[in-house]
Amino acid sequence: MITPQAIQSVKDAMRVEEVVGEFVSLKRKGPRYLGLCPFHNEKTPSFNVSPNLGIYKCFGCGEAGDAITFLTKHEHLSYVEAIRWLAKRYNIEVTEEEQTPEQQVEHSERESLAVVQQWALNWSVDQLWNTDEGKRIGLSYFHERGFSDATIKAFQLGYVPEQGNAFAYAAQANGFNPEILEKAGWIKRREDGTGTAWDFFAGRVTFPILGLSGQPIGFGARTLKSDKKLPKYFNSPESVLYNKSRSLYGIAQAKKSIVEQGLCYLVEGYTDVISLHQAGITNVVASSGTSLTEEQVRLIKRYAPVVTILYDGDAAGMKASLRGIDLVLKEGLNVKVVTFPEGEDPDSFAKSHSSSEVRAHLTDTAQDFLVFKAALLMADVGDDPVKKAAAIHEIVESIALVPDHVLRSLYLQQCSRMLGVNEQALVSEMNKVLRRQYRKQGPDHAATEELISPELAAPQPEVEDLGTFPQERELIRILLAYGHERITVPFVTEEREQQEEEMSVAEAMFEVLAVDDLLLDNPLYKEIYLHYRHVSNLGTSIGETYYVAHERKDWQEAAIEVLAEKYVLSHNWMDRHRIYVKRDKTDLLRALTYAINGLKLKRVTRMLTALSNDIGMAAYENVGPLMKEKIHLQKIRGQLAEIMGRPIPV
Ligand code: UTP
Ligand code: MN
Repeated sequence: MITPQAIQSVKDAMRVEEVVGEFVSLKRKGPRYLGLCPFHNEKTPSFNVSPNLGIYKCFGCGEAGDAITFLTKHEHLSYVEAIRWLAKRYNIEVTEEEQTPEQQVEHSERESLAVVQQWALNWSVDQLWNTDEGKRIGLSYFHERGFSDATIKAFQLGYVPEQGNAFAYAAQANGFNPEILEKAGWIKRREDGTGTAWDFFAGRVTFPILGLSGQPIGFGARTLKSDKKLPKYFNSPESVLYNKSRSLYGIAQAKKSIVEQGLCYLVEGYTDVISLHQAGITNVVASSGTSLTEEQVRLIKRYAPVVTILYDGDAAGMKASLRGIDLVLKEGLNVKVVTFPEGEDPDSFAKSHSSSEVRAHLTDTAQDFLVFKAALLMADVGDDPVKKAAAIHEIVESIALVPDHVLRSLYLQQCSRMLGVNEQALVSEMNKVLRRQYRKQGPDHAATEELISPELAAPQPEVEDLGTFPQERELIRILLAYGHERITVPFVTEEREQQEEEMSVAEAMFEVLAVDDLLLDNPLYKEIYLHYRHVSNLGTSIGETYYVAHERKDWQEAAIEVLAEKYVLSHNWMDRHRIYVKRDKTDLLRALTYAINGLKLKRVTRMLTALSNDIGMAAYENVGPLMKEKIHLQKIRGQLAEIMGRPIPV
């Protein structure tokens, strides 16, 4: 707990223009300061800071408050965190009462580690600049890499002598005990009983990893030997001070620029960060050593709404890391991707190109992550509809992670255009994903249901539901998608001989339905069905795109609606609902038979329901014939149900 007195001294010390000024660039205008509002997007400044009143106010979006409010809103800090932040900024001691003994131990260990790391940083920098070995080996290595003196200083790069215990010796002479030095990752102790200390980073150049306020919390150390057996980098172990998944290399140097640019570049390693800085791109951090974590993403989000990931991998590597990036979407960050020419990483690219070329590459080739992912996945789908469906499903799953539903529908629109898939179909598919997620979260998350996008106004014909709509729709879908395909249909002649005949799917459908004089109920589908039959009887071949490009808008919409599904549904889903996707011709015949029998079964069931009503109301003498008919229909229903291989609908 922070004492009320401490809070008061923080409040007395804080200057709103200084606190806001850490995140927003402000210009003095008479008694106040003016800048671009960090809470909404604007081109002309309407964000006012008044030092006299100790408050800020945006006349554009209405955001207002004091320095503490600013930190809670802009940095997403809690009140207590904001007080601590301010206490640090203004060097005010905030004594926290009632710490448990464990907290005290951890607290003092953190303090000790912080002191060790700061001392080690100064020592390694001194070795680099002020010793013969440091200059000869460490400094010349950095120069060879193309780092300027200013850059080397800005990143406080250092060197540890090869000798093997120079650090251990100096640090212990300075009074640090070996235990804390080991926890800090600087020394190891022999396990031979002597406990002799040796330098973990001996003969390496060092890259300090800084916390948010610029204090060193860990180090990366690169070997200068080309021995492939040695790990190129050693990194400090995790400790109460250094949590890898919560730190980003370069954040201390980059955060101001990230806020100013409203954008954070994310690279793989230390050298990429440093080279880009030197090329004038300063809003860059690395998630070195680990794949991007949720905490790192939240950290970035405190400073900017957009992250651009600079990828130097090959296509396979990229694909593997795509899923990792999905978590960035979940945090509501806008994600972009920049790739580099074969064999180049940001570090090498920055070295072989001018600053303006690098900048141009980053801005001109940045692609939206979801678009990038879609293109990458679709690249090797080819004509395989099953693969395409799987790819689309994966993309839709990513889009479903975007918390902002306006953004989500923009992505759906974009992907619909890119992939040539009906947007409504994408929306329904995504809603399925969302519902599944929300079911997984349990009933407590009922509010999530609101997040689900409303279905777009689908071109669904408005007719009274006679119960056969799904079956008719499936028939129309098979007709439009595969009507022109040729299949071999077996039949039995009058002499009870098995025969086969080759015909188109459409012809087979027309023949079978004609036997029972079956027509479709749905007026729109009936029109299309009859039109198809008429036109194809005249000898016109009707391809898959015939109705999609039809001048009758309602036919066109219906065609697009039924055809889109072919590319959208996952294979499993289709199997479960027995929706046919072309695999081979025997399948096609089965699908046709299944669809026709499905329609017949529904019709017979409907007739039976009507008949039961009639029987209930019929005069006594009429019941007999009706019962007879009922039994006949029940038999047909039984046969159909058996063919369909599923229980009789009640
Ligand atoms: P590189 O292998 O390119 O490192 O990895 P480098 O120091 O630039 O080496 P050269 O000069 O190209 O051969 C790029 C980044 O990946 C991280 C480092 O942050 C490095 O800057 N990395 C690499 C590690 O953390 N550990 C490793 O073992 C290797
Ligand atoms: Mn490299």
